[in-house]
Amino acid sequence: MSPPSQSRSWRASLLLALLAFSKPDATCGAGAQAPAAFSVPKSSAVDYVDPLIGNGGDSPNGSGGMIPSTAPPFGMTRWVAQTRQNYVSVTPYNYTDSSIHGFQGTHQPAIWMGESGQVVIIPGAGDVKPVFADRGMSFSHDNEVVTPSYCSVSMDPPGGGRIRAEHSATSRVGHLRFSFDSTDTPYVVVEATRASVMGSADPANVTYPSGSVAVDPSTREIYGRNPERQDFIIGPDPAPCFSGYFCARFSEPFKIYGTANNSNGQLLAGETERNGTQLSAYAVFEDGTEVVDVRVGVSLISVEQARKNLDSEIPDGTTLEQTAQKVREAWAEKLDRIQVEGGSAENKTVLYTAVYHTLQYPYEQHEDGKYYSGYDDTVHDGESYTGYSIWDTFRAQWAWTIFLAPERVNGMVQSMLQDYKEGGWLPMWKNIVETNIMVGTHADSLIAEAVLKGFTGFDVETAWEAVYKDATVPPVNDWNTSYFDREENVGYEVRAGLSSVYDTKGWVASDIHSEAGSRTLDYAYDDYAVSVLASLLNKTSEASFFLDRAMSSPFSIFNATTGFMEARNADGSGAGEEAGWTEGDMWAYTFDVVQDVDGLVERRGGNMSFVEFLDQHFDGGHNDHTNEPSHHIPYMYSLAGAASKTQERVRSIAEENYNASVNGLSGNEDCGQMSAWFIFSALGFYPVDPVSGVYVVGAPFFDKIHIDLPGVQNPLVIISSNAPTAPYVGSLTLNGAPLHEPIIHHSEISGGGVIVFEMSSVPKGWGNAVIEDGAGGTTLVHQEL
Ligand SMILES: *[C@@H]1O[C@H](CO)[C@@H](O)[C@H](O)[C@H]1NC(C)=O
Ligand SMILES: *[C@@H]1O[C@H](CO)[C@@H](O)[C@H](O)[C@H]1NC(C)=O
Ligand SMILES: *[C@@H]1O[C@H](CO)[C@@H](O)[C@H](O)[C@H]1NC(C)=O
Ligand SMILES: *[C@@H]1O[C@H](CO)[C@@H](O)[C@H](O)[C@H]1NC(C)=O
Ligand SMILES: *[C@@H]1O[C@H](CO)[C@@H](O)[C@H](O)[C@H]1NC(C)=O
Ligand SMILES: *[C@@H]1O[C@H](CO)[C@@H](O)[C@H](O)[C@H]1NC(C)=O
Ligand SMILES: *[C@@H]1O[C@H](CO)[C@@H](O)[C@H](O)[C@H]1NC(C)=O
Ligand SMILES: *[C@@H]1O[C@H](CO)[C@@H](O)[C@H](O)[C@H]1NC(C)=O
Ligand SMILES: *[C@@H]1O[C@H](CO)[C@@H](O)[C@H](O)[C@H]1NC(C)=O
Ligand SMILES: *[C@@H]1O[C@H](CO)[C@@H](O)[C@H](O)[C@H]1NC(C)=O
Ligand SMILES: *[C@@H]1O[C@H](CO)[C@@H](O)[C@H](O)[C@H]1NC(C)=O
Repeated sequence: MSPPSQSRSWRASLLLALLAFSKPDATCGAGAQAPAAFSVPKSSAVDYVDPLIGNGGDSPNGSGGMIPSTAPPFGMTRWVAQTRQNYVSVTPYNYTDSSIHGFQGTHQPAIWMGESGQVVIIPGAGDVKPVFADRGMSFSHDNEVVTPSYCSVSMDPPGGGRIRAEHSATSRVGHLRFSFDSTDTPYVVVEATRASVMGSADPANVTYPSGSVAVDPSTREIYGRNPERQDFIIGPDPAPCFSGYFCARFSEPFKIYGTANNSNGQLLAGETERNGTQLSAYAVFEDGTEVVDVRVGVSLISVEQARKNLDSEIPDGTTLEQTAQKVREAWAEKLDRIQVEGGSAENKTVLYTAVYHTLQYPYEQHEDGKYYSGYDDTVHDGESYTGYSIWDTFRAQWAWTIFLAPERVNGMVQSMLQDYKEGGWLPMWKNIVETNIMVGTHADSLIAEAVLKGFTGFDVETAWEAVYKDATVPPVNDWNTSYFDREENVGYEVRAGLSSVYDTKGWVASDIHSEAGSRTLDYAYDDYAVSVLASLLNKTSEASFFLDRAMSSPFSIFNATTGFMEARNADGSGAGEEAGWTEGDMWAYTFDVVQDVDGLVERRGGNMSFVEFLDQHFDGGHNDHTNEPSHHIPYMYSLAGAASKTQERVRSIAEENYNASVNGLSGNEDCGQMSAWFIFSALGFYPVDPVSGVYVVGAPFFDKIHIDLPGVQNPLVIISSNAPTAPYVGSLTLNGAPLHEPIIHHSEISGGGVIVFEMSSVPKGWGNAVIEDGAGGTTLVHQEL
């Protein structure tokens, strides 16, 4: 194969640099607006959302990694109170902290990923304090309002008085308002660059990105750029011209202004431009100024574009109330589509917050019909998205996006195809550019599922070309590179091990590659997705080639002696039960053959024995719902004729891993996959095999859920009276016709419909097939096992 194209257009780079410092339009700042009446559009659904859910947890891996931020669905920049410096494994807001050090326009998409191109706006009073450690203001959660569209908090500045900060945000513009009550002279600092911590606080791991700021008192603007991209150290795309650009426009005139150093606290009053590291700028307002309103346009293209974004999304004269109202309406447009009856208030909060989480990523990377691409480091026309955690989201998050945000699906797929054209490969984990995080080329699954479900508003032939390349072209140096997690200085990881020896023997060699057992099973599933796409495109010989490989590869690592999957070395010897797993173990991964559950059941001795194996898995504490490899496992009982056990396990997993507290997500949200599991489970079905076009039936949580699917005339209505207290299913009908198997086809519900579950507080025979009991007779699973 050829290495990815890394051609750089230096002409474009120069243009970006020039644009960055072009002068603003000769318009003046907006002037403080009289607060308009804050008439909040009704939406009980939005009111149920609690953005604090998933911020807590005893450790980064035990936390949802979510932050209480404002932005519309799929917004490019989220605004959040900054309580600590964020980096890989640390979010900018931590509920246990007691001081706020500014308000950050963040692009960090998940707790394990790095920040990029952020800007921080810091109010203060008295002596200007740009240094992080000096500028904290204490606050209490009692004085904090947190909603998806509007947040406010009261803080105590060191010199006395109070500062109340409020914020809302459109996709590319943050809207903040600071009210000063009995304080010293008000000021605002804008932080462009900071010392960036990479992975650990050790000084050896700190870098100093160099950016720029400029202050223009005539337009009341502070603007500049920040090239920080904490993931630069991993992944094949250097993106040398990457910067987050910003343009902050203030309502009040600057009495004093200058640049500042956020390392040593030095202030350079009167200076209007500076480049460098740990760089901030500031504006001090007249004594007695009570309210300062600031709108901050951001861009990945230029300062000029950031200013255009500001003018088009939140033009001069817009009040914070108007911005917040618009953003609330954007959330209500999605959340109000779901109406729920029954269940506790907490259950509804968990559900609507889950929906809110699933509508955050991937996020818009385009602005004004253009986007900066980190793959070829230039600006292109079109729509683009970033923040794709595909190893997580191919499971259920994508199926849910197809349900609730179908208008985004073509653009999101086209965005991946652009990544392919500009960088040479489809994304695995795109955070501005490829980061090589996790394993498998599950973009194959996203594309196949989209085409299967009727989406073709993208370049389908290029899509085929791209997934075919995933399935047939190994990465560079496939024979001598491990491609371990976050390995530095390697090319695109894609299907590491494809040529050594997966394509000839069926498994990825554990003595050559990291995570070889997981890779084998994931590549086999991806091959299945490629075969599904091939057959949809009538490419029959490719379809049968990849189907064969998808069906045979998983069992090339099935150890019949132990009954478990076991990674193998190149020569075929076993690598041991512990080796070769990605965020899981042999228990989770032995169930990872969603494309051939029958084949797996057969190798595990038939349905009865498979159900016993599932019981051992759960009762032995091996199911780890905090991580994705376990997500489909409870649904496998239904596929082995033991539906009542799926119903029971799903309910208890939901109860144990989700609640309406700050700690209410037991594992990383992972761009919406944790929440997508809860949502589908609450509806009563789950996409165990995402490219099969069928859902496996579990048992719903509420008495009734009504969803107005976008672009569809009829609602999807799920009626399951008494579900909150009766977790078992007695019978099921779809549009009045009884369903005897625990399977629902996407095509049967994508146009709406009525699903009625008869619920029961004890296990029933429905979905519990009559199976051989091994003694020549037959029996019902739920009574005997
Ligand atoms: C929040 O901070 C506490 C105390 O420092 C820490 O134990 C916890 O791991 C942090 N949470 C996250 C998600 O980083
Ligand atoms: C999660 O983090 C804690 C503390 O850092 C660690 O002890 C634990 O092993 C981690 N768990 C997993 C599943 O990685
Ligand atoms: C730097 O961070 C990486 C994780 O990103 C870690 O593996 C490494 O040990 C750290 N180095 C130092 C010197 O702390
Ligand atoms: C900052 O850097 C830019 C680009 O290199 C340059 O054009 C500009 O003159 C510099 N500004 C200052 C104040 O040094
Ligand atoms: C800020 O101060 C640090 C030393 O404390 C220095 O390394 C850095 O260059 C300074 N930044 C600017 C923009 O002057
Ligand atoms: C792998 O092989 C390639 C080509 O022979 C060589 O350039 C590269 O240095 C090798 N890498 C390692 C880690 O040995
Ligand atoms: C595949 O073949 C079927 C049946 O001949 C046809 O209806 C369909 O349009 C074809 N699809 C494509 C993408 O060519
Ligand atoms: C299968 O398991 C047995 C028993 O643990 C072990 O001796 C053997 O090496 C394994 N074989 C393979 C190919 O993994
Ligand atoms: C196992 O159970 C499933 C679901 O009831 C059924 O479709 C399948 O035929 C059963 N397999 C065997 C071998 O009985
Ligand atoms: C629903 O809420 C109740 C009360 O808060 C809680 O006990 C139960 O576990 C929740 N159910 C689910 C499925 O989350
Ligand atoms: C909420 O869920 C978390 C994560 O599973 C758990 O640690 C915590 O105890 C639960 N809290 C309540 C009040 O149930």
